[in-house]
Amino acid sequence: MRSPVTHEYPFFFTWSRQDKVRPLELIGGDGAWFDTADGGRWLDMGALVYQANVGHGHERMIEAVKRQADSLCLATPTAVYPAKVELAQMLLDLAPPGFSKVFFTLGGSEANENALKIARMVTGRYKAISRFRSYHGATMGALTLSGDYRRPPLEPGIPGVVHALDCYCDRCPFGKTLDTCQRECAQHIGQLMQLDGPESFAAVFMEPVPGANGVLVPPPEYWPAVREACDRHGTLLVCDEVLTGFGRTGKWFGHNHFPDAVPDMIVCGKGLTGGYGVLGAVLVHERVASHFDHNFLYAGLTNYAHPLGCAAGVEAIKVYREENLIGRAEALSPLFLAELEAIKARHPEKVSFTRGQGLLAALELNASPQQWESIVDGLVRRRVYTHPKPGTGMLVLSPPLCISEQDMRHGLGLIEEVIAEY
Ligand SMILES: Cc1ncc(COP(=O)(O)O)c(C=O)c1O
Repeated sequence: MRSPVTHEYPFFFTWSRQDKVRPLELIGGDGAWFDTADGGRWLDMGALVYQANVGHGHERMIEAVKRQADSLCLATPTAVYPAKVELAQMLLDLAPPGFSKVFFTLGGSEANENALKIARMVTGRYKAISRFRSYHGATMGALTLSGDYRRPPLEPGIPGVVHALDCYCDRCPFGKTLDTCQRECAQHIGQLMQLDGPESFAAVFMEPVPGANGVLVPPPEYWPAVREACDRHGTLLVCDEVLTGFGRTGKWFGHNHFPDAVPDMIVCGKGLTGGYGVLGAVLVHERVASHFDHNFLYAGLTNYAHPLGCAAGVEAIKVYREENLIGRAEALSPLFLAELEAIKARHPEKVSFTRGQGLLAALELNASPQQWESIVDGLVRRRVYTHPKPGTGMLVLSPPLCISEQDMRHGLGLIEEVIAEY
């Protein structure tokens, strides 16, 4: 028998059992708010799927895409046009010194996929390390890199991926506390390389702050130690900034929080266009990119650097700059994180931990599966949009960077009501 949902809509809903989906019939929005066809007005405390950083219904973004459609809407991967050149240059200007090339894709998964291909081609090695509490995408290579619940049902993936234990200070996998910690989690990355073939690892893939898996903010020494382990073994360090890039953590990129550990490749998606275009990108350091000056690049996509995506990317970067959205995220962050701590203090039996950086945060809730149903219901009834993760006990928050202080307080108030209620 067909379920009402699959019966009503002739397409699949992603990452769900089709008869359990609650579709959101989006019709528009503005700023931190979006509207649904049932007359609902939702406060977006999740930036949709973490991409709506510049907010909803942004006129400039919409106009930029329309202008591009009028001038050039169809291209081939070898074509050159102003939006493609301008965006690549803008991205390299945002990257640390020494980054010299961009590889465009249609999203974050393909960007990780191509970063892995580039790492394999440049190093001549095939293995990679990533962490368990991570998500790097849905295509087979990126999914194999991912450590969370989405990978095991689709195994076997690609060969050569080794998963590492996490940098998860609130529940340290090495049994340490901040006082006894010797950064075992960072040393562990080097140990895995040493034990599993010191000269066989092409790359280490990491989110600067694992986002959807619980906003696990690392201590300042973590990334430099991982960088050092990579250097010791001739392994490239790939920073997956698909979720953290473009202001989410209060800086342009998550890796800007540890400037002494410059990655070899930076993977972008989501906020790159604020969701107004279909685009991902890999920013490549010259020490990697120069390999292809005289070697064949075995990578490409029909809609490589699609003009509409590039136009959206160019305009999004201008909007981030001109509306000072990165500065806003940084400025609002202390209040955001303090309010979450205050919620925890008022509900100590229900909130185990809060963590965050910029406008990305997680509440770890002590709730049974039934209680999670009530949490999700409470959020839907109040029309406050977040990322509940019953499997890991986390409620992840990532409002658009343009959210006002008042709306942010309002959203957190609604979330607290839901917590008080279950
Ligand atoms: C850190 C990270 N990497 C990669 C991806 C995959 O990006 P996309 O869904 O655009 O393919 C995501 C998406 O959630 C992500 O959060």
